Amino acid sequence: MIDPKKLAARFPGDFLFGVATAAFQIEGASKTDGRKPSIWDAFSNMPGRVFNRDNGDIACDHYNRLDADLDLIKDMGVEAYRFSIAWPRIIPEGVGRINELGLDFYDRLVDGCKARGIKTYATLYHWDLPLALMGDGGWTARSTSYAFQRYAKVVMARLGDRLDAVATFNEPWCSVWLSHLYGVHAPGERNMEAALHAMHYTNLAHGLAVEAIRHVTPNVPVGLVLNAHSVVAGSDSGEDKAAAGRAFDFHNGAFFDPVFKGQYPESLVSALGDRMPVIEEGDLAVISQKLDWWGLNYYTPMRVLDEPSEGAEFPATRPAPFVNPEKTDIGWEIFPSAMTDLVTELYARYDLPELYITENGAAYNMEVVDGEVDDQPRLDYYAHHLSAAADLVRDGYPLKGYFAWSLMDNFEWAEGYRMRFGLVHVDYDTQIRTVKKSGKWYRELAALFPSGNHKSA
Ligand code: FCB
Repeated sequence: MIDPKKLAARFPGDFLFGVATAAFQIEGASKTDGRKPSIWDAFSNMPGRVFNRDNGDIACDHYNRLDADLDLIKDMGVEAYRFSIAWPRIIPEGVGRINELGLDFYDRLVDGCKARGIKTYATLYHWDLPLALMGDGGWTARSTSYAFQRYAKVVMARLGDRLDAVATFNEPWCSVWLSHLYGVHAPGERNMEAALHAMHYTNLAHGLAVEAIRHVTPNVPVGLVLNAHSVVAGSDSGEDKAAAGRAFDFHNGAFFDPVFKGQYPESLVSALGDRMPVIEEGDLAVISQKLDWWGLNYYTPMRVLDEPSEGAEFPATRPAPFVNPEKTDIGWEIFPSAMTDLVTELYARYDLPELYITENGAAYNMEVVDGEVDDQPRLDYYAHHLSAAADLVRDGYPLKGYFAWSLMDNFEWAEGYRMRFGLVHVDYDTQIRTVKKSGKWYRELAALFPSGNHKSA
């Protein structure tokens, strides 16, 4: 077992350790205080979409247990909390009326963090689009980008004075490709043209929100959280390497290129441009405003082979076998060095600002036995990935912090409640929280910061 003290010595004293969650996954109280449904409420209530037809009605009941959960965060020894704000609580129909009661909840949340000395890292969009906006096409409609800009303004005007950082979006890859092309996440669409519209309007919404945030709260560092894919060719053949290049453009370039270069990847435009929406004059300038930071969510590499069949849709790849047969309970290959390789490649390709690892963690579904959860494999996953993170620090990358996904077990999207990512176990019948073995280990590490083993420095 990696000693937390030894690991701590490999990070600077001001390195930020945190835990992360997202509104829909933990809050519950889906109809409380004026909240209206999001696309995830609708999706999870449809048969066949989410495992066991689980939904977010109760989740971890965090909305009603806010203070106790903030105490729990404090007790985890961390310096920062990454959470998301639910748009359908703030502007329940997406446009129109502002719901003060929704803002009040996040007011209490940020005040509660401040009272406990915990830094606040807010995400504006972690996938819970107000359902009413689907009437106009949801993310496939340009109007949604402007609705998001207004929502960003409203949130920042009320909470911005107490936020240590804000991210516009969490993982556009998921809310674009996984939700509109692969049909796995809400709204469950499987259509390239729809997905390409969602891509551009999400990117535009990000840029418009950056503009709004800078206007309302110029001192709050603004960023974007991306689940960049570590794309690895399954063989050394020219075909598979070319396939990996296309996959990089499609899975990463669709978001990194417009945001950090002000253009879409050439390969993507030449293959799919005729199905993209009109890119209006000035859109790319709005999208590519300089950011203060970016967040990487990393779990597993993406291994690809060429898909030779005629008519295969861009990027025309198929999955390649794992290199490491070890996987977490959700079936994701464990490969920590892919995280370092990915960051190295991204900094070589793009002019990127400071970095936080905003999510990293593992699904293991151990239950409580005699009051303890022995989740050694999760502890090992954290230890190895944190060691990879320390390599990045050593190599001079501007990595400033790390957030574990997740504080506690929660609604794991299409997997429902069966996949557990928490450092803290949640019993969904009683809502009892039990800190797991991994949680105790992480606490030991996190509690050494700020200042870490570097007190004398
Ligand atoms: C990420 C999501 C997060 C969580 C983890 C396991 O893609 O951002 O909400 O579900 O995966």
